[in-house]
Parts: sequence; C-alpha cells; structure tokens
Amino acid sequence: MIRHHVVGHQIHARGSVFLLPFILLWTIGPLLALGNVRSKNINNFAGPYIAFGHKFDPCPSDGTIEVLIRASHFNPARPYDLQTISGNLSSKEDMKDNYWSRVEMAVRSNNQWKDNAFIFNFPRLGCTAIREQVPDLFRIIAKHSGAPTDKAAPCVIPAGVYVLKNESVSWTFPNFPVIPYGRYRFRVTSRSITSRTTLLCLEVDCEAIPKP
Ligand SMILES: *[C@@H]1O[C@H](CO)[C@@H](O)[C@H](O)[C@H]1NC(C)=O
Ligand SMILES: *[C@@H]1O[C@H](CO)[C@@H](O)[C@H](O)[C@H]1NC(C)=O
Repeated sequence: MIRHHVVGHQIHARGSVFLLPFILLWTIGPLLALGNVRSKNINNFAGPYIAFGHKFDPCPSDGTIEVLIRASHFNPARPYDLQTISGNLSSKEDMKDNYWSRVEMAVRSNNQWKDNAFIFNFPRLGCTAIREQVPDLFRIIAKHSGAPTDKAAPCVIPAGVYVLKNESVSWTFPNFPVIPYGRYRFRVTSRSITSRTTLLCLEVDCEAIPKP
C-alpha cells in the first residue's frame, strides 16, 4: 500500500492533468489535479475520457449535508448517452467555501480495491469548486436551489432539501481534458473550518473510460 499525504493546494499549483473522475464535492478541484502523483496502482494509460458513476453511498456523518442519489445504469455500448441522477441533496446550512475536506482514494486493480492508495486534505473548499470543476452538476443544483451560476457572484448553495428526479448530467470536467483511465472510489469527508464534527460523508464509486 502506498500512502501519500498531500495538501491540495500544492498539487493544484503544479497544473497537472489528473482528474478524479467525478465528485460532487468541494474537494473536486484540487483532487482532479493529482496527475503528478504516480503509483503502481494507477493505470498509466491516460487520455480523453468519458466518466460515469457506479454508486454514491453515504457514510457516517452528523447529517448536516446529505447526498442520497442514485445514477442510472451506464451503457458502455452507448457511451454518449448521459447518465441521469435521482435522489435528494440536503443541507442544513448555506454551503459556501468554508469546508475542510479529506479524500481517501482507492483504485481498482486486479479485481480488488487498493484502499487508501492516496489520502488528500483540502482546506477551504466548497461551492466554488463545484461551480468551476463540475459545471453541469452545478447547473442542476442551481436549478433547484437558486445558487448563482454567474462566476462573478459569490458562490453559495442555500440551505434546503432538493429533490432531483431523473436529471441528465454530463460528468465533464473542463479543466481536466485528460486523465488516467480506471475505476476509482473516493471517500469524501468534510467538516467546517472551525469544528471536528463530520458534516458530510460520501463514497463515490466511479470510472473513466477512453472516449471512443
Ligand atoms: C427525498 O426526500 C423526499 C422528501 O423529503 C422523500 O420523500 C424521499 O423519500 C427522499 N428520497 C430519497 C432517495 O432519500
Ligand atoms: C429519464 O430521462 C431519460 C433521459 O432524458 C429518459 O430517456 C427517461 O425516459 C426518463 N425516465 C423517467 C422515468 O422519466
């Protein structure tokens, strides 16, 4: 097992090409930038990709922010058909950029998960990271919550319960046109900058395949 402890901002600054396929969370921006970190667990074949989700599973938190969503089945024979997502997003507090997040990333290799292949900590992330790194997901969140899509406006997702029904989503990451192909699992936990309580915990099982 290989562990790397890295601060997100440092990785980001190198402007690398690795993206974590898709994350709904504040962690996304810096995470996507893991490219310079190499491991034998990571497939070295990288290129233009299509990303999709297998599962989004909640894990233990105090329930301040909950993500309970399901994605439709991805059909590899029709890779350009968008997945749809359904479920609930809820937050008891306005979400700005005031979260400290930790991401434990596992990589699928030889039919097993290599747990904690990487561990990352990201200070001061949140709304803006989603808006900039996963714009189509943010579009859906904005449609339901009224969060501003205009990048000139301060980013905030108002507290509320948002019910998503069969929303088509394009898992595209404009800042990361090329990533290593593979199957990944991200366990994301977030807390506020001022407390140790876990406000959010989510496990995302996802995959990036070559774009045909
Ligand atoms: C989403 O929230 C609605 C309204 O609170 C509830 O009826 C429904 O069961 C929830 N769905 C999921 C997937 O949690
Ligand atoms: C969900 O959306 C997809 C794509 O827009 C559509 O083909 C499908 O019929 C919808 N399913 C339901 C249950 O509304």
